[in-house]
Amino acid sequence: MCGIIGILAKRPVVPLLMDALKRLEYRGYDSAGIATFEKGHLVRFRAEGKLVHLEEKLNNYSLDGKTGIGHTRWATHGAPIERNAHPHMSKQLAVVHNGIIENFAELRAELKKKGYVFNTDTDTEVVVHLVTDALVKGKTLIEAMQDSLPRLQGAFALALIFEGQEDLLIAARQGPPLVIGYGKGEMYIGSDAIALAPFTDRISYLEDGDWAVLTHKSATIYYSMGSKQVKREQTKSSRSAFLVSKGDHRYFMYKEILEQPEVVFHTLAHYLDFASGKVRLQKDSIDWSSVSCLVFACCGTAYYSTLVAKYWFENLAGLSVSNDVASEFRYRDPPLSVYQTLALFVSQSGETADTLACLRYCKRKGVQSGVVVNVSESTMAREANIVFPILAGPEIGVASTKAFTSQLAALASLALMAGKARGTISKKQERSFVMALAETPRYINQALKLEPSIEAVSRELIAAKSVLYLGRGTSYPIALEGALKLKELSYLHAEGYAAGELKHGPIALIDETMPVIVVAPYDRWFEKTVSNTQEVAARGGRIIFITDKKGAAAISVKTLATIVISEVPEIIAPIVYTICVQLIAYHTAVLLGTDVDQPRNLAKSVTVE
Ligand code: AGP
Repeated sequence: MCGIIGILAKRPVVPLLMDALKRLEYRGYDSAGIATFEKGHLVRFRAEGKLVHLEEKLNNYSLDGKTGIGHTRWATHGAPIERNAHPHMSKQLAVVHNGIIENFAELRAELKKKGYVFNTDTDTEVVVHLVTDALVKGKTLIEAMQDSLPRLQGAFALALIFEGQEDLLIAARQGPPLVIGYGKGEMYIGSDAIALAPFTDRISYLEDGDWAVLTHKSATIYYSMGSKQVKREQTKSSRSAFLVSKGDHRYFMYKEILEQPEVVFHTLAHYLDFASGKVRLQKDSIDWSSVSCLVFACCGTAYYSTLVAKYWFENLAGLSVSNDVASEFRYRDPPLSVYQTLALFVSQSGETADTLACLRYCKRKGVQSGVVVNVSESTMAREANIVFPILAGPEIGVASTKAFTSQLAALASLALMAGKARGTISKKQERSFVMALAETPRYINQALKLEPSIEAVSRELIAAKSVLYLGRGTSYPIALEGALKLKELSYLHAEGYAAGELKHGPIALIDETMPVIVVAPYDRWFEKTVSNTQEVAARGGRIIFITDKKGAAAISVKTLATIVISEVPEIIAPIVYTICVQLIAYHTAVLLGTDVDQPRNLAKSVTVE
């Protein structure tokens, strides 16, 4: 998603803007730009592609401006070319925007009729001419913003600077997050606290509908896009502790794959007491004994974590569970019973627009709503009735790895918590599951040691036109996640399928050119999965079988490769087997030379619908 930075500094602002934009790179982008003042006048610099191209341009100038805005663009309207890169400008102002102005076509037509010439294909440009129009009519800056902001429909986080006004920056939030940072004689605005981490850890989050007037010394916040002032709490950002670096790893993603034993342990330890073998009773938590129905609505990898969780909550807690992709859920207008229903939203970023919209939909319906998030200061965390944290630490790689296994760890713990509260598991069972989960970090470490054989598998995939992933039971969502990882990292087409569904169509795809990756621990679904694998073998499919020692001994089909993991307790198999599909995707991407940390077209936090 786009990244925004705005700074009112006591020193040359361009290096600060670039530092912040580099910290926003993890969100994914395809062009970038900054605007500042040169001898009191607005100047702008933009470039396609990565920040290095913008830096090359800036190296030809010595810019002394102390106020500026910057932007990394993830294209929604208009190709990712320099002409469409932000900031967008008129003689009077420069603006950067994250989100989508949904009524931009109507505004564009209205402004064109007034004689404004549009130079870009973006929705954002309507903001430039709308505010300019108010200013040329003699409105003050504040009046111009108060006239213009309510005209915008959709999602927008904005930062604007104005010709001849070096001690002024205006910001507005409707949807995508915006954070104000308080420095010493300096003020900042950014898309998240990570961007502001080098400058300050004193921050305030703007709420939906807020807009703010910043000077070097102050921030005046108005709410509901109006003229009534509001105070937003200043907090200390925990993100400032994370001046995250790759260390000596080539990619953030690889570093984050290796961090999984540690972060999964931290997440499990938050919910489970390994010493007593008990689930920790969370203060002011959900009363699981009064819940009979669980509703999940999430996106992408987070959605797959809830597909695994479905098995756990059904089997361990006897709950009826519904799973939706968030972008479908609220438009179905599902009949939700407020009574005994818990809506649970899993989101690494806590900012995904589709998921956030579902959280707000369920809250409006009066349904108790909880979130499982990695960012404790995120919008979802601030709006939910209850927050279940995952402790994965900042995940910089756009493709989610440690957050996914941490989500699974948290959801498995919550399923145990629910089972305990509902009396569907005994104390003995509780202890057995807790001790099994306690072993997860060790088993993840063992799976990580399989990397050389996994890298060899990746060499078999790089020439494939398409790859099929199969699994049953809790391995089916891992097949889905494995396919997603391969797609988003290597740009190869891949598809995850329930192994039992193969014969209902996809089997037509199988021939000697088709790699088929089968996720199959020796569990209750193993025999059936082997039958499906035999159907693949009979048609010449190139089978890569991921199993354990018992499974390897039991299969009779010829495979291209068999990856053998230690035997693990069934409840933790989805977490441990994920390591293999992550490494397959990672090494395939490295071999193909794609941008592992920021795959093309992807965004770390999709804050538009
Ligand atoms: C992660 O690998 C994917 N790139 C993406 O599907 C992601 O899981 C999805 O956008 C949801 O993000 P969230 O967890 O921040 O809500």
